[in-house]
Amino acid sequence: MVSGVGTAPGKVLLIGEHAVVYGHPAIAIPLRSLTARAEVTYTRTPGIELVAPDMDEHLVPGEVPSPALAPLQKLAEQFLASFGESGQGVRIDLHSTIPVGRGMGSGAAISVAVTRALCDAMGRRLNAQQICDYAMIAETIYHDAPSGVDPAVVAHDRPIYFVKGKEPRPVQTGPTDFHFLIADTGMSASTADVVRDIRAARERDRATYDSYFWELGSLASVAREVLKTGSAGELGLCMTRAHRALQSVGVSSPQLDQFVSTALEHGALGAKLSGAGRGGAMIALVENAEDEEKLTRELVGAGAAGIYTTTLSNDDV
Ligand code: MEV
Repeated sequence: MVSGVGTAPGKVLLIGEHAVVYGHPAIAIPLRSLTARAEVTYTRTPGIELVAPDMDEHLVPGEVPSPALAPLQKLAEQFLASFGESGQGVRIDLHSTIPVGRGMGSGAAISVAVTRALCDAMGRRLNAQQICDYAMIAETIYHDAPSGVDPAVVAHDRPIYFVKGKEPRPVQTGPTDFHFLIADTGMSASTADVVRDIRAARERDRATYDSYFWELGSLASVAREVLKTGSAGELGLCMTRAHRALQSVGVSSPQLDQFVSTALEHGALGAKLSGAGRGGAMIALVENAEDEEKLTRELVGAGAAGIYTTTLSNDDV
């Protein structure tokens, strides 16, 4: 019998990716049309069993976990240990509609879903920051040295202004809604590999890379102010400038550049890659539902493997 259930949304980075790893701000928003779900069942045998049919993975207690499941096993073990329940056997069933390796927070979402399911099973009430701290156990293994923005936005389930090591701040928006369209390139990239690569490049040329990160961080700060005033045009400009900076960092790809050009040619107010890059997704800001439909057709024609939409509105903050 299932004793606990937890769910969590995907996420997109509106602005500030990569720079956020070096202490600059970023803005992230939940992507609620995609979800991860975990179900906890108590078992007689001690240890953690993880069942993930979507990934074709099954970890039986006592076996060596695969790279996909090892972080979740560690998270569950530490969660049980911190509540004095290490001897308890649990089976955790995992399901997710979030594409893996596309910058949409699949790892963070499944980690938050597992934490919430364990809380539910054990009758524990944790706040969003505590849930985020548990999810970070897995995230640190998935992504090496992550900034923490992904689990933070997923656990808080609201748009956030994030600076590494600090409590996330809610994003304030003005009277107008902001409509975003996310296009999946269908190409996966490992966030850990991309971040490691950029760290090595920065070591070789710190001044140049830090100037890109300063620009990205400044654009995130400007975007935060622009969101308050409700100027979609200005937000779009910030996004497109951020894409140019991310191209200089070296994390775009021909397909991401093509999606950005397609979006800008077909009425988007701004567009950029979202997440670690070198594959993954593009995010575009559109003015209204009509533009959204038009652009969806164009991006599908340009090869998008999936299109998602999200709106940032006053109700969200
Ligand atoms: C990944 O969603 C965002 C990156 O900035 C990595 C991180 O913040 O840990 C690329």
